[in-house]
Amino acid sequence: MLKVNDLGYWYDRQENSLFENVNLEFKSGTSYAIVGQSGSGKTTFLSLLAGLDKPRAGQIELNGEPINKIGLTNYRKSKVAIVFQSYNLLTYMSPLNNLMTAMAITNSEHRGDKDYAMKMLRRLGITDDQMKKNVQRLSGGQQQRVAIARTMVCDAKLVVADEPTGNLDEENTKYVIDQFQKIAHEQKKCVIIVTHEPDVADVCDHSYRLEKHKFVAET
Ligand SMILES: Nc1ncnc2c1ncn2[C@@H]1O[C@H](COP(=O)(O)OP(=O)(O)OP(=O)(O)O)[C@@H](O)[C@H]1O
Ligand SMILES: [Mg+2]
Repeated sequence: MLKVNDLGYWYDRQENSLFENVNLEFKSGTSYAIVGQSGSGKTTFLSLLAGLDKPRAGQIELNGEPINKIGLTNYRKSKVAIVFQSYNLLTYMSPLNNLMTAMAITNSEHRGDKDYAMKMLRRLGITDDQMKKNVQRLSGGQQQRVAIARTMVCDAKLVVADEPTGNLDEENTKYVIDQFQKIAHEQKKCVIIVTHEPDVADVCDHSYRLEKHKFVAET
């Protein structure tokens, strides 16, 4: 579904590339963990997959079509669901309206279905009371869970998440990872998660470590 060909990236004034000649394939119905030391380039890699930044070398293909040909704006709008800490929710709205808006904008098959949106929010542990408040009145972890519920109500087959359990306690971490597994296995999406937590990586179907500018398969 998603193919990375000879991918390379470095920031301006950076001496070495963060990574070079990366060739990977991500399949639908499967979950992937990306692990590696702080500063190794995991978030950068994810932003390339999400179409938030452009590769310096190589290209990314979605179902055989380079994403720059799809157009990055178009790609972000309808092809990929993003759970990033700093790229999250519409701050002036409630969780419920965030989901309703996302469904409308992306023309999801569930658009307009408020009951479905509420059901998914409940699944992520957001109470009926919380889903009607302004999202800014929720905690960081709660906001991230709203962003995960949003990926469930939209049709995008690719889901990328940057440390989605970084703000959660052990119990909620287990629960959220379980939901990501459902997104992969039941909704047949391709889920790619950056994480520092070995427990999270263990649960994912495959795991890659970014080390010395290369991605090495762990499982
Ligand atoms: N906008 C930027 N401009 C220049 N350098 C950057 C920029 N963003 C990140 N970097 C540098 O690129 C490297 C990789 O950053 P990145 O955020 O991708 O790492 P990471 O693996 O996600 O780390 P962490 O686990 O701490 O989140 C770091 O050395 C960082 O300082
Ligand atoms: Mg990071």
